[in-house]
Amino acid sequence: MKNLLYKTSRGQYILGDSQKLIENGSLDDFKNKVQLILFSPPFPLNAKKKYGNKLGDEYKKWLSDLAPLFTKLLKKDGSIVVELGNAWEHGRPVQALLSLESLIAFLNNPKADLRLCQEFICYNPSRLPSPAQWVTVNRIRTIDSYTHVWWMSKSDYPKADNRRVLRPYSKSMLQLLKRKKYNSGRRPSEHTISEKSFLTDNKGSIMHNVLELEQMDQERDLRLPQNMFSFANTNSNDFFSNECRRKNIPIHPARMPTALASFFIEFLTEPDDLVFDPFAGTNTTGYCAEKLGRRWLAVEIDKKYGKQSIIRFKEPKLTKTLTIKKI
Ligand SMILES: C[S@@+](CC[C@H](N)C(=O)[O-])C[C@H]1O[C@@H](n2cnc3c(N)ncnc32)[C@H](O)[C@@H]1O
Repeated sequence: MKNLLYKTSRGQYILGDSQKLIENGSLDDFKNKVQLILFSPPFPLNAKKKYGNKLGDEYKKWLSDLAPLFTKLLKKDGSIVVELGNAWEHGRPVQALLSLESLIAFLNNPKADLRLCQEFICYNPSRLPSPAQWVTVNRIRTIDSYTHVWWMSKSDYPKADNRRVLRPYSKSMLQLLKRKKYNSGRRPSEHTISEKSFLTDNKGSIMHNVLELEQMDQERDLRLPQNMFSFANTNSNDFFSNECRRKNIPIHPARMPTALASFFIEFLTEPDDLVFDPFAGTNTTGYCAEKLGRRWLAVEIDKKYGKQSIIRFKEPKLTKTLTIKKI
């Protein structure tokens, strides 16, 4: 590929505009081959126009137009997962609807035939107070601490298995499994719990659609799936962030949490499946895919972020197959 910045044995990072690259056929080799498209789009701007960020209706149309382009690359049972934060009206304590409207326009684009499989909330208890003016100065709003994550697909039954993302049992469940005794009977909620309910050890419990990224309470265990613990628990204290700080490189301001990326990669793909991020930035998606034994493809418009993302692959276990192209 012409604009290749670097590759590993499992993936490649391409510099360019993902919309144009799909439209001009540069990514045709990947048609109907991608199992998961995972991304957070550049944010819409409601004030100043910046490179890569569009305004209002122009943004909505741009995001919506991407849906049929992306589905062209997707396998029949593939998934698209989009992470989108909340936006606020400029200078007002009012939430903007543009990002959600744009996401609905993407989902509803008739040329793409997508449906919403499930909405997830990605909750980050240690998110810095924002929007700062209304939260910390005027004290009239609470901290905006979650992002919307929408899982969509071309079919009602995309590849998915929640047994791949079991979370560790709670302490009380572990005790219950040990005691092998349960307070059975009818509950006020009208559910009837049989004597044997809850006594089978399934090696973990089923994930909820709220991903809590960090521990809120030191006394309480953080219950993310086991594999996600092979990634550093906080985005600000991993190999990549530490290296960026050591080298005085200003870190990409809108990275996707590794826990979020790895959760969806494990849940919706199997080893060797192909994962694509069209707005790759620091390549959180490719990095998590690489570690989880999936193949990956990343596209990013800004070379500075492309170069920064190479740092992720300087992690001792990942450098072996890394090849950087001089461009
Ligand atoms: C929200 S960030 C994604 C960050 C990424 N998920 C990560 O973890 O680092 C969006 C990225 O999209 C890039 N971008 C904007 N327009 C683009 C386009 N048309 N094609 C490819 N990348 C684009 C921006 O430069 C930015 O790095």
